[in-house]
Amino acid sequence: MSHNLTRARWPALPAASRVAIFMLSVLFISTSSATNVSVTPAPQKSSAQSLSPTISPSYAGMGIEPSNLLSFTGTTSVNQLTFQLLSNLANYTGVPPHLRIGGNSGDNMIYNSSINSYYLQENPNASGQGNIKTDFYFFGPNYFRALDRMPKGTPITYGLNLAYTGADALDRISEQATAAFDLLSNVTVVGLEIGNEPDLYVQNSYRNYSWTATDFGNEWSTRAQHVYQQVLAPRNIGSNFFEPATTATTATKSGQQFRIPNLVETGVAVENGIYVAGWNQHDYYYYVGVSTYQLSLDLLLNLKQTSDQFREWANQAQQALVTGKPYYLREMGSVGPTGIQGISDTFGNTLWTLNFFLYAATVQVSSVQMHLTDNSYGSPWQPIVINGTRPHVRSSYYAWAAFDQVIGASCDKTIAPLTVANIPSTYQNRLSAYTIYKGDNIESIVMINTQPAYMATPSKPDVYFAVSLPTSFAGQTAYIAVLTADGADAKDNTTWNGISYERSGTGAPTVVSSIQNTTQVGQDGTLSVPVRDSQAVVVTIGRALGNEEVDQVRCGLLATSTPEGGENSANGTVTASPAPTFKSTTGFHKEGFHLSTGAIIAIAAGGGTFLLVLFLLSAWCCVRACKKSRRRKELGRGARAPVSMLAASQQESPLLRNDMEQGALTPKSASFYGPPSAPLGSKSATPRSSVHSPLGSQAVLQDGGQGHPRMPAVRGAGGGAPTGPTMRYAAMQPEYDETSNRSERSSARR
Ligand SMILES: *[C@@H]1O[C@H](CO)[C@@H](O)[C@H](O)[C@H]1NC(C)=O
Ligand SMILES: *[C@@H]1O[C@H](CO)[C@@H](O)[C@H](O)[C@H]1NC(C)=O
Ligand SMILES: *[C@@H]1O[C@H](CO)[C@@H](O)[C@H](O)[C@H]1NC(C)=O
Ligand SMILES: *[C@@H]1O[C@H](CO)[C@@H](O)[C@H](O)[C@H]1NC(C)=O
Ligand SMILES: *[C@@H]1O[C@H](CO)[C@@H](O)[C@H](O)[C@H]1NC(C)=O
Ligand SMILES: *[C@@H]1O[C@H](CO)[C@@H](O)[C@H](O)[C@H]1NC(C)=O
Ligand SMILES: *[C@@H]1O[C@H](CO)[C@@H](O)[C@H](O)[C@H]1NC(C)=O
Ligand SMILES: *[C@@H]1O[C@H](CO)[C@@H](O)[C@H](O)[C@H]1NC(C)=O
Ligand SMILES: *[C@@H]1O[C@H](CO)[C@@H](O)[C@H](O)[C@H]1NC(C)=O
Ligand SMILES: *[C@@H]1O[C@H](CO)[C@@H](O)[C@H](O)[C@H]1NC(C)=O
Repeated sequence: MSHNLTRARWPALPAASRVAIFMLSVLFISTSSATNVSVTPAPQKSSAQSLSPTISPSYAGMGIEPSNLLSFTGTTSVNQLTFQLLSNLANYTGVPPHLRIGGNSGDNMIYNSSINSYYLQENPNASGQGNIKTDFYFFGPNYFRALDRMPKGTPITYGLNLAYTGADALDRISEQATAAFDLLSNVTVVGLEIGNEPDLYVQNSYRNYSWTATDFGNEWSTRAQHVYQQVLAPRNIGSNFFEPATTATTATKSGQQFRIPNLVETGVAVENGIYVAGWNQHDYYYYVGVSTYQLSLDLLLNLKQTSDQFREWANQAQQALVTGKPYYLREMGSVGPTGIQGISDTFGNTLWTLNFFLYAATVQVSSVQMHLTDNSYGSPWQPIVINGTRPHVRSSYYAWAAFDQVIGASCDKTIAPLTVANIPSTYQNRLSAYTIYKGDNIESIVMINTQPAYMATPSKPDVYFAVSLPTSFAGQTAYIAVLTADGADAKDNTTWNGISYERSGTGAPTVVSSIQNTTQVGQDGTLSVPVRDSQAVVVTIGRALGNEEVDQVRCGLLATSTPEGGENSANGTVTASPAPTFKSTTGFHKEGFHLSTGAIIAIAAGGGTFLLVLFLLSAWCCVRACKKSRRRKELGRGARAPVSMLAASQQESPLLRNDMEQGALTPKSASFYGPPSAPLGSKSATPRSSVHSPLGSQAVLQDGGQGHPRMPAVRGAGGGAPTGPTMRYAAMQPEYDETSNRSERSSARR
């Protein structure tokens, strides 16, 4: 067991004497003009459709860009805000949220034990290939010591550098893994990633154009086996410790070969999958500079957009099930790379995030890590001073708090989607609901109303959810917890279940409303629950959310069988039983490909393979012959987002220059991502080149900064973000605009 499951839970609800338990019947008086919808949860989980796996207590997690880690952890002393906010969540589920330490910059970092600084240092003799060299940075033991200040038992997926291919590559990678195990004792390494997003290695110039997923599989298995023999086996850790795939997306041409049915044909499947802990997928709902439409809060809150975009990954999760290995979404966000002000930092994003956590579980995702950088509006908190703004909690943090209180600490919760019936047209795609089962039985109903209601709107309507519970619930007390703020556009003063995490100034919870609202289930088993526009409400039978005791037995059991992937296996004392092989590597459901055929341009673009080969050939020629002119053309064509993103800073940095060129090379992958409802032709009006992620503003080279030349491609506030070299794809939209794609194709061929 790697977790301390005995930790007491929050809340510490205020003493019973101070808690007024009100039967707020006033809440449930409605007028006949109110909008009424109904939900009928399946009485037992066995009869529920699309039931999630048992939810891991650390399911709702975060990913931190490696170059940006210290902003979140602190260095010589811990970042108190981060520590408090993670600890709050640990108090709700018994285990801190799962952290992935990985990202673009991980493929530019070499562990070097002689580095005394906490910060990354530029490697004076970097020799690796790549837009940013694969050994550009050194980092030392103190980097891990900083990470080890995170709450005890924090499960970590740690990313190793695969991009580096020097003669000493195998020594370097085992040294890096060894340091992680030797230096991390508070937090628990529960899995290793080898390489970030290999589908972008060619674009990032880490590999030449002949490199394929097959080569990836071979390189991956060589390293996995080496790290297992050198590092894991001596520590009695099982071989099923690695999370392959790690693609930016499986939806694009370069990404498709990294789909699970293809990966199991590569070295990843060596010894029938005994090195595979689970599949590690990345995605964003929207990506600035790649998505071809303008995002608004209103559009973000259209729930159909999320499920449409996610179909490809929902299919991949089904493929993962065939292999018998869990499917993790280790890098995710509503808006990458660093969010959009006025969207990501608002309560609307909080509702989106809560819905996403619940939704993802119901399509068999076993863990979700929202990606954090210190300069991202999408981060649930800002950990350091940026642009003169002090560290603070953002609204989206409340989505983690709400999810974790709902899941609790009993380790026997599952989630099923709940069909909302009688939705009037004005609320289409704005209402969602989920049933939470404890064991076999209904425990909570989550109801989310994403109809945008803004702060300026004086009176915001309610939607009444008529919940039909089994009559066995008649007369029972239902506890009500509300996730709310002044409006979808509110940035401050969100509350969840009467708690504020902003009021204290430290991230510690403050009870701002000690009234525990309850109602009683009617004799016919029904409840009527008002949910205001831009609000979420949870009703729970049998307990008030927030103070669930850890179920030691069940949590122990879950830890040994968890879909979270071996969170118990890194204890360092556990002798792994024979590592599980793939359940199957054949018989993948056709559906996964059905969607892709219609949705993915590289396949769908009429001419099929021959055209594709032609295209690749011309692209290759282009890269040789007309790199420069292509770039100018692309800029000239009004690649709006990239240009504005570059405006302030280093247009001439090698990194950005190269990305622009790569974008020009693959216009179709980027241009494909239009809004489902976009009028025909609107996509071609805004061709985008792909962009890299500006990842974090932390001055990683700041330690002894004077003596160390900064890297050439720094950007962002705070004087020096190591930008990841990644080109990134975002939201795959299922509708396919042939006209614009064809024109992109022909312009690419020209
Ligand atoms: C984990 O390690 C500790 C000592 O480091 C040991 O006491 C404990 O029993 C181990 N847990 C399991 C499940 O083996
Ligand atoms: C966790 O719960 C314990 C016991 O209720 C409490 O003492 C502690 O302050 C809580 N920690 C946080 C971070 O809320
Ligand atoms: C809506 O539901 C409320 C409360 O259950 C009920 O009083 C009201 O009559 C319903 N209105 C309509 C139009 O059905
Ligand atoms: C570590 O850094 C030192 C100082 O820059 C250098 O001499 C040494 O070669 C580096 N070691 C590795 C393994 O790169
Ligand atoms: C870098 O490499 C050059 C040539 O190999 C060598 O002369 C120099 O000492 C190296 N510098 C460092 C800091 O290792
Ligand atoms: C380990 O975690 C505990 C509690 O979560 C914390 O108090 C302590 O400072 C951490 N240890 C180190 C070495 O950072
Ligand atoms: C591409 O890389 C592979 C492996 O590093 C190498 O064998 C091959 O010769 C390279 N091909 C080209 C065209 O450079
Ligand atoms: C910081 O300031 C820069 C430059 O004005 C701006 O582009 C960026 O969005 C700001 N970032 C944050 C997190 O405030
Ligand atoms: C948030 O709440 C605090 C305390 O009630 C109040 O002082 C502050 O003005 C509020 N902020 C906003 C933006 O409403
Ligand atoms: C209970 O309901 C009242 C009235 O809507 C609200 O003001 C209060 O914040 C609620 N309490 C909690 C703990 O959510």
